[in-house]
Amino acid sequence: MLLGAFSRRKVEVMKAIRLARHGEPSEVLEVEDVPVPEPGDGQVRIRILATPVNPSDLLYVRGFYAGVQARFPAPVGFEGVGIVDALGPGVNGLTSGQRVSVVNGQGGNWAEYAVVPAGDLFPVPDEIPDEQVASFVVNPASVILMVRRLLAVPKGEWLLQSAAGSELGRMVIRLARRDGFRTLNVVRRRESVAALEALGADAVIVSTEGPIDEQVRSIVGPEGVKYAIDPVVGETGTQMFKALHEDGRMLVYGSLTGEPIRVGDDPRYILAGRRIVEVFWLGYWLPRLTDAERRQLGEDIVALMREGILETSPGRQYSLDEIGEAVAQAEQKGRQGKVFLVLGK
Ligand SMILES: NC(=O)c1ccc[n+]([C@@H]2O[C@H](COP(=O)([O-])OP(=O)(O)OC[C@H]3O[C@@H](n4cnc5c(N)ncnc54)[C@H](OP(=O)(O)O)[C@@H]3O)[C@@H](O)[C@H]2O)c1
Repeated sequence: MLLGAFSRRKVEVMKAIRLARHGEPSEVLEVEDVPVPEPGDGQVRIRILATPVNPSDLLYVRGFYAGVQARFPAPVGFEGVGIVDALGPGVNGLTSGQRVSVVNGQGGNWAEYAVVPAGDLFPVPDEIPDEQVASFVVNPASVILMVRRLLAVPKGEWLLQSAAGSELGRMVIRLARRDGFRTLNVVRRRESVAALEALGADAVIVSTEGPIDEQVRSIVGPEGVKYAIDPVVGETGTQMFKALHEDGRMLVYGSLTGEPIRVGDDPRYILAGRRIVEVFWLGYWLPRLTDAERRQLGEDIVALMREGILETSPGRQYSLDEIGEAVAQAEQKGRQGKVFLVLGK
């Protein structure tokens, strides 16, 4: 567990991270004392225990997260684990003191308390540790929706993925072993290769050691891969597009380089076949799930966490006051484990 007992007290002011303006995370994030928010109709107040520093939080801070508009000074933090602290009118099915995973679509989990719609909480069984519940939705739900639902990668097929050493990439490698498809993994540093092979990667290539499309075809054969997922874009995404089979489909789900992906500069790949490049954003898909699909997604995540497949490796922990160090650590090249802000630390 990340935390021991947290003394209950009547609090009216809390510490929260606020974004003064868009810019570099180490420069524009401040710790402020702000009023503890009150839950309105259908809302729940959560006492936050721990909250990850995810790439999406940092994209938002820099002003590149188009799905959520910041109103300054803006709250920050999309994911986390906490304890139900107060229920607004009309909330059923949750009890005070219950531990939940908290998705905060508007941001605001980098704080002692957050208020969110009751529907954005996932109660999680007690035996799943806090650090896993803190990262219960963003990466695990994306893995299930991309790989099982949208691509539905069949047994025996190759799935090509970039940033394969990321927490999400490692989940995909473990899921592939379980579900019976094969992973072809792209990393930017040779030092990452051995760990991914040990995890069960079927093949690992290094983006700086030759054109990705040529490396891919030498492994899967001249027709290329039918399934791919890419959060890197730029030159990596461009070369992955060229590695696609004529019926291939690639989900682009991140922007780690912030550079353009090109599909039109080589006619061999646009005047032949039917290659599909499609955006994946969890914020688009989650609200489109039916209640039954959402419940099923939560149950699938719990089951795959119990098997260790959708596991997040915990990295360094910081307090809210250490936010500058936390965001710098989160973007260190070769960092091991997910950085967490831990409340009450
Ligand atoms: N679209 C969605 O809804 C959605 C949902 C969840 C996650 N995501 C995206 O999924 C990606 C992975 O998230 P995570 O939490 O698993 O990340 P993470 O654990 O923080 O890992 C980041 C990985 O990206 C690699 N990387 C960073 N910058 C890179 C660059 N310029 N070129 C190539 N590789 C680079 C790092 O490689 P090193 O090991 O070499 O440092 C590291 O392996 C992020 O882009 C995130 O935004 C998107």
